[in-house]
Formats: sequence, C-alpha cells, structure tokens
Amino acid sequence: MAEEETAVKEKHADELFKEFREVSVTEFFRKNRSHLGYSGQLRSLTTVVHELVTNSLDACEEAGILPELHFEIRQLGTEHYKFKARDNGPGIPVNHIPKVFGTMLAGTKFHRHIQLRGQQGIGVSGVTLFSQMTTGQPITVRTCTGDNKVNEVKLLVDVTKNNAEIVETKQYSGYWRGTEVEGELKGVAYNTSERGPYEYLRRTAIANPYTEITFTDPEGRKTVFKRSSNKVPKPPMEMKPHPKGLAVDDLLNFAKAAEARHVGSFLSSTFARVSSAKVNELQKLVTFDLNKNPRKLAWAEAEELIKAFDKMDFMAPSSEGLRPIGETQIKNAVLSILKPEFEVVITRPPKVFSGGVPFQIEVAVAYGGNAGRPATGEQEEGVTSKAEIMRFANSTPLLFDASGCALTKSVNAVEWKRYGIKDFDNSPLTIFVNLLSMYVPYVSAGKQSVAEEEEIIKEIKMALMEAGRKFQIYHSRMRREIEKEAKMNTLLKYITELAPALSKLTGKDEKKILKDLTHLVKEKLRIEALEEELEDDGGEEEADTTFKEEGE
Ligand SMILES: Nc1ncnc2c1ncn2[C@@H]1O[C@H](COP(=O)(O)OP(=O)(O)O)[C@@H](O)[C@H]1O
Ligand SMILES: [Mg+2]
Repeated sequence: MAEEETAVKEKHADELFKEFREVSVTEFFRKNRSHLGYSGQLRSLTTVVHELVTNSLDACEEAGILPELHFEIRQLGTEHYKFKARDNGPGIPVNHIPKVFGTMLAGTKFHRHIQLRGQQGIGVSGVTLFSQMTTGQPITVRTCTGDNKVNEVKLLVDVTKNNAEIVETKQYSGYWRGTEVEGELKGVAYNTSERGPYEYLRRTAIANPYTEITFTDPEGRKTVFKRSSNKVPKPPMEMKPHPKGLAVDDLLNFAKAAEARHVGSFLSSTFARVSSAKVNELQKLVTFDLNKNPRKLAWAEAEELIKAFDKMDFMAPSSEGLRPIGETQIKNAVLSILKPEFEVVITRPPKVFSGGVPFQIEVAVAYGGNAGRPATGEQEEGVTSKAEIMRFANSTPLLFDASGCALTKSVNAVEWKRYGIKDFDNSPLTIFVNLLSMYVPYVSAGKQSVAEEEEIIKEIKMALMEAGRKFQIYHSRMRREIEKEAKMNTLLKYITELAPALSKLTGKDEKKILKDLTHLVKEKLRIEALEEELEDDGGEEEADTTFKEEGE
C-alpha cells in the first residue's frame, strides 16, 4: 500500500535534456570496441595485425610496388606485447599522418567503388585507440615517401575531438621508402592457433603470392613467407556503381553531390550502363522531368527512379574492376606453402549478386603434404590431419565467426563423399575460397563473415564441385595404382615360387620361365588398368549430370 502512495514526480523536458551530449565516432568505438574486432585476447591481437597488413598491401598495390612486409611481436609481460609493422609502400605525406592514425572515418578509399581491403578509414586509428586504451601509451609512426626525410611521430587519439594528439615529432634523414608503425598492447594474448597472427600472415602469403612477409614471433623465431611470384598486381580500378541494386538513399546521396546540371546527365555520368537511350526510356516511366536539377531531387522522385530501374533491363555491370589472384598464382603459392600431393585451382567467371554487384569466386583444393592442419588432442586411430577451410574476402583472410559465414556454409553444403572424400573432417585437406567484390556483403562491422547471398553460395558450390570432380579422378587413379602394386607384388611372389617347380617339371630354363611369367602378369595388369580407366570416363559423364542438379 505504502508504495502506491509515493507519487512519482514528473520531470520537465528541460531537466531531462540537461544530459543531452554529442559524442564523437571515436568515443563510440572506445565504448564499443568489439565492433572493430577488439574482443577477446587473441582476436584483438590478430585484429591489429590485420589492420596494419591490409593497409600496407592496399598502399603497395595502389602504388604498383611489390610488397615486402615485416611484422614483429614481442612479449613484454603477462598479456602485454609490443608490435612493429613495416612496409616498403609509398609512405605517408607528413601532413596526413595525424588524420591517418588519429581520426576515424578518414582515408583515401571512401566512395571510390574500388576493390581494396580497407574502405571506411577506421582501421588504423582503431589500432591507435586500442593501444592507448590498454596501455596509455602513444603509437610511433615512422614514414618516408622516398625523399630522404624520415618523419617520426608519436601520437594518441583525442577521443572527444576524434583528432590526433601529437606527443612528439622528429625528422631525420634516412634513405628508405615506406611506413613503420610501432606500439604496445595489453590484455592480448599470442598463440599459434588457427586464429592467431602466424596463421593470419601464412594465409595472407597464400592469397597474395607477390608479397614477401617476414614474421618474428614472441619467441624470437623468424619465418619468411617468400613470394612465389614477382608480378606486380594490377592496380585497383575505380568502377561506377550499377543502377540495379541501388537504394533510394544512396541515389539521393549521389544526387546531392552531383555536378551535372540535369538528372538525366547526372544518371548517365554517375552510374554504369545508363546510356542516353536508357535515360529516354526512363523518362517515360517517371512522372517528373529528367531535366530537373539533380541537387533538388526529392525523396519521392528518387523512389520513382529506383522503381523504374527495377523494371528496366540494363547491361550487366562490368567486372573489369575485379582482381582475381589467378589460377597459376594460387597454384604456385599453394605448392610452395602447402606442398600437397594433389592440388586444383578453379576460377569462376564473374557474376553479380543483389541485382547489380559484380563478384567473382576462386577456389583451391589441396590434398596431402602439409595440407590440412595437424590433428591435436584425442583422435581416432590413424588420423593425423584435419580438414581446414581457408576463407578470404578480397584476398584478406577471415579467421573469426566461421560458422555464420556463407563461405563456410557453401563448403559444408558440398557432398564431399561423392568425390571420394569419405571423412571430410579427418582428411589432410585445405579448401581455399576467395570472394572478390567491391562490396563484400559482410555480416557485421567486424568484417569476418560474409552474408548468405544466394548467388555467392551457388558460385562457390559450383567451383568446389568442379574441383571435387578433378580430385575424384586423381583419387581413383591413386587408389588404382596402390591396388595394382599390391596385386603385382602378390603375383610376383607366387611366380618366384612357381618358376623353379615348373623348371623341374618341364626341364626348361628357370630364368626364361620367370621372365615369361613376369611379362604375362604385367600385361594382364596393364589391360585391367585400361579397362578401369575406360569405365571411369563413362562415370565422369554421370558426375556431370549430378553436378548440374546440385548447382541449379
Ligand atoms: N602503410 C600505409 N601506407 C600508406 N598509406 C596508408 C598506410 N596505412 C594507412 N594509410 C592511409 O591511411 C588511410 C586510413 O587507413 P585506415 O584507417 O586503415 O582506413 P582504410 O584502410 O579503411 O582506408 C588509408 O586510406 C590510406 O590512405
Ligand atoms: Mg585499413
């Protein structure tokens, strides 16, 4: 009863709004660091490696430089590490250093419709922030653009202003070109598991065969992942967005920034495949004049345009901007790092998802040698390797959140038994899947898993099934070889016993009998093998029909 009697005093809006504050993007990420991948001790460390490595590779590729990366992790105490990353990239002009490392949402890659690893300009300032949040220390940047002047800057992030707080700057002469970033981290852990920095770098080396990576681990061990190709990758190319798959809000944003005088010319200059004939067709489908100023486009008008786009046919978007690693390149990298007994690489032709976004799939299947990962813990007898799935988006390894990822799901959806892999999980197998796109549909800001787009899943399955059929041919040939050898050995054993007996019975030369019998056995086995091979070829056709069923 007493509770009911105490009346709640109403508050005036003015009083409530005394608490109204604006926070910076940096403040947001300081409180929600898991959005940037800083959750868990190992993941946080791997995220730092990822941010620095992707930036170095992006920078080298845009500048047309063969990347050479050095990464070092040293342990300073319990959960306390120091990292140092160096590249031979173009370097960073001195006036841009504060923005690059101390401001979130600042970078050279926004709105460029370009296949690069970074996009939002959050990555490396996130490293600065994480380092200062866990240690209170600034990061140190050394960079030189090749002009004989090395700029060294120690900086922190001013969280309220989303700005760099410069602690110290130095300039000295030195002849090199590139960028070096050094800092301390606490609350992180190093290990050699599948999700650790070592594995991240190993996979980066496989998917970027023109890159040389030297890694020094906390034990002081140095590993060099040598490049297996000297070909400088094709620099990324900017591509116009395609009208299909565009949202109303996107269209309005483009319109606001437009320089064209009319909506019609704005559309054909901003988007791919919008010719003047298409603009004429469009005019018949909308209720307003396309000669209107694009900066004055209303929401309802933008909506009309999007609806019209949906009804119209456009040429498929160009996939020129996609940069696959290439079959030979992947093959060489897989051979040099996994040294498998069998490997196959399949590159699918480019396709589109969500109406107008081009993408492309590359897969590789490697079997035997160092493929798969060593089995640890309790195992069934005879199992020494486990299958591993290596996922990549634009050649960047995805190590976390595997179970919700379209790439994992596609691999698991393939019936591996059909291709002679009876126990997928316990096989010495590495399955490599790389998804290339200017807009990878990530599930979350952590960018570790890909959303389940139907077209993407289908393409991965098609590629894996093609690889599976190649494996099957190899596998049955191998099995036949083994069987043939076992049979031959048994028969030869009998022959050596039979020959002296026959010689005694017939009085003929033992050596001659042995020779004739051996010839007979070999000839019989050869004919058997030929017959089996013929049967196999018939079988392959059958596999082709199932392939279609499974894929369509
Ligand atoms: N190692 C580097 N060499 C040259 N430029 C770099 C390097 N690291 C970062 N940058 C520049 O800093 C920008 C911001 O990097 P980052 O915060 O990781 O965002 P993003 O990679 O998404 O653009 C990049 O766009 C690039 O212009
Ligand atoms: Mg980046």
